[in-house]
Amino acid sequence: MKVITKKSELSSAIEALKKEGKTVGLVPTMGALHDGHVSLVKACHQNNDITVVSVFVNPTQFNDKEDLKRYPRTLDKDVALLEKNKCDYVFAPSVEEMYPEKDTRVFDFGHVGEVMEGVRRPGHFNGVGQIVSKLFDVVKPHRAYFGMKDFQQIAVIKNMVRQLRYDIEIVPCPIVREADGLAMSSRNTLLSPEHRANAPHIHKVLEQATRLTDKMSVEEVKKWVVEEINKNPYLETEYFEIVDDTELQSIRDWSEDNVKVGCVAVYAGPIRLIDNIIF
Ligand code: PAJ
Repeated sequence: MKVITKKSELSSAIEALKKEGKTVGLVPTMGALHDGHVSLVKACHQNNDITVVSVFVNPTQFNDKEDLKRYPRTLDKDVALLEKNKCDYVFAPSVEEMYPEKDTRVFDFGHVGEVMEGVRRPGHFNGVGQIVSKLFDVVKPHRAYFGMKDFQQIAVIKNMVRQLRYDIEIVPCPIVREADGLAMSSRNTLLSPEHRANAPHIHKVLEQATRLTDKMSVEEVKKWVVEEINKNPYLETEYFEIVDDTELQSIRDWSEDNVKVGCVAVYAGPIRLIDNIIF
């Protein structure tokens, strides 16, 4: 496994491998890696000759400066974990390397960028678009792997791939959870012991909600979820929406013929957690 910090070095290494006919998969991450990330690396390794994992805490996608400051950075540990999981190239650039000048590009992802996280984290998806397009341009992978934990992010990236005509297959991967149901997240390490102990309540409520669809309307389930989560004194729901899995339009009735996903953002003290579940 090679750790590379320069775009030009990674581009030429990958270009040479592609000329030899090798397929290349990319797993973009912000580091502080856990089993959720590892599951993407494994999926990538299974279906591609070469696995590239990027580790870069992308400043342009943080709409909250404190969140960026406290975001965990554990590169040595990450590199050791990736080595064990058959990654071929780790790309760990500096901020200057990725943003030698201010990125002024403004993306329009349409409706999928305007709901849920798009409303609560202004500029967040624009920053994601900026860095992911830069990574796509450097690596030019055949496939790129994203976790369904960040469900809306996948819809945004797919929209970008269509708009910018990238010839890259976007591969969504299932959410990996802790034994107690909490969706794995780099931010979980920032939770106080009390918040960590109560955070699994989020997934429990979502799971229960999926069993209420023959008793309650969509609106009733939405209200029920928010109330149930907020009954826990350590948790405060920011939003809960039930949307279809491609256009992210709000579901009005359970009889609609589409895949329905319940998406939630919850504050556990100062730490913001997101999760989702298929209904
Ligand atoms: P990060 O939060 O580090 O996540 C990297 C990838 O791992 C994302 O595709 C995310 O959905 C996936 N992931 C995180 N937790 C997961 C879990 N519990 N189960 C399955 N997959 C999980 O998402 C980002 O970074 C950034 O926005 C990025 C795309 C790298 C752009 O900066």
